[in-house]
Amino acid sequence: MNKFLIIGLGSMGKRRIRCLKALGFDREIIGFDLRADRREEAQNKYGVKTIAEIEHLNFDEIKAVIVSLPPDKHALGAKVAIDHNKPVFIEASVVLEDVLEIQAYNQANVFVAPSCTLFFHPIIKEIKAIVLSGKYGRVTNFSYHSGQYLPDWHPWEDVKDYYVSNRVTGGAREIVPFELTWITDIIGMPQDIKGVFAKTMDCKADIEDSYAFTLKFKNAIGSMIVDVAARYATRNLVINLENAQIQWRWDEGKMRIYEAASPSWIEYKQPESKPVAGYNVNINENMYVEELQAFLEGIKDRKQYPNTIEGDIAILKLLKAVEDSDGGFDR
Ligand SMILES: NC(=O)c1ccc[n+]([C@@H]2O[C@H](COP(=O)([O-])OP(=O)(O)OC[C@H]3O[C@@H](n4cnc5c(N)ncnc54)[C@H](O)[C@@H]3O)[C@@H](O)[C@H]2O)c1
Repeated sequence: MNKFLIIGLGSMGKRRIRCLKALGFDREIIGFDLRADRREEAQNKYGVKTIAEIEHLNFDEIKAVIVSLPPDKHALGAKVAIDHNKPVFIEASVVLEDVLEIQAYNQANVFVAPSCTLFFHPIIKEIKAIVLSGKYGRVTNFSYHSGQYLPDWHPWEDVKDYYVSNRVTGGAREIVPFELTWITDIIGMPQDIKGVFAKTMDCKADIEDSYAFTLKFKNAIGSMIVDVAARYATRNLVINLENAQIQWRWDEGKMRIYEAASPSWIEYKQPESKPVAGYNVNINENMYVEELQAFLEGIKDRKQYPNTIEGDIAILKLLKAVEDSDGGFDR
């Protein structure tokens, strides 16, 4: 019982193979994808065993399942794991109904680990430590812009050929919970959230490419823009605290903090990490490895894994609240 089954061998499934290899696993990896070209690619690039159907797989050999399917198909993969009582890691979610379905299906209380990749980003870890230390007082407000250009995501395929062009799992819609997961981990859950979402340009898919919203907390406010219409990939954050200001630009690989008392700027540099060919140079592969490491620790003791399905659902309800405040997703 030492093997990992990865369901879905697209961009993330292959990344999870690399993560498991980085964690010292190799012959223990089995990949499953409906597409023969994806299976061949995984075999040729990484030398892992792949299968074309899972019906005949011996689940006695399987330690855990990793679901790297498109977000509207996560429940399919999660059910396979739950049916065989295997811990399951699930990639970033966006479809609330799909996650509710997984929760309802999991009567056996199998360990389900929803992705929370950005918890493991080195600068985000630093920001969290600074904010939660209370050293600079509490957060008063923040503004955050997370922008990317959809056709840059998978340069090897047309956006029409994978889930980001499907409105339900659209690129910008997906990034809203992806970002809110870590923002709310640091700043807390908002009491209120509202905003707008719209198609603003031809990003090669008929989806709302931009979301803008405001968040109201007990003693703080925030504003966010999440889009896939940015021709230069951007993550720009300003957090104001009572006695300091944090500034982070993702593409600069560093974060700085203005200490009002000194007064001076302190700089935190992100550790170097080699980008993988085909991806944005600022994508740090280590955070994905650490995320799977946390999953492995969660298999031993689920409290060691920092996200839960309940947490995931709460975040997806924030996405729904933003959309509901602008006429609803089905407007
Ligand atoms: N954490 C992150 O930074 C991050 C980044 C990108 C994507 N994601 C998430 O990862 C997941 C996968 O994204 P991706 O970019 O790898 O997508 P992808 O389209 O590249 O890969 C999905 C794969 O699933 C396969 N597939 C589809 N239906 C299947 C089925 N029923 N059975 C078996 N295989 C099937 C497809 O053939 C494809 O190879 C999504 O949930 C996405 O939200 C996370």
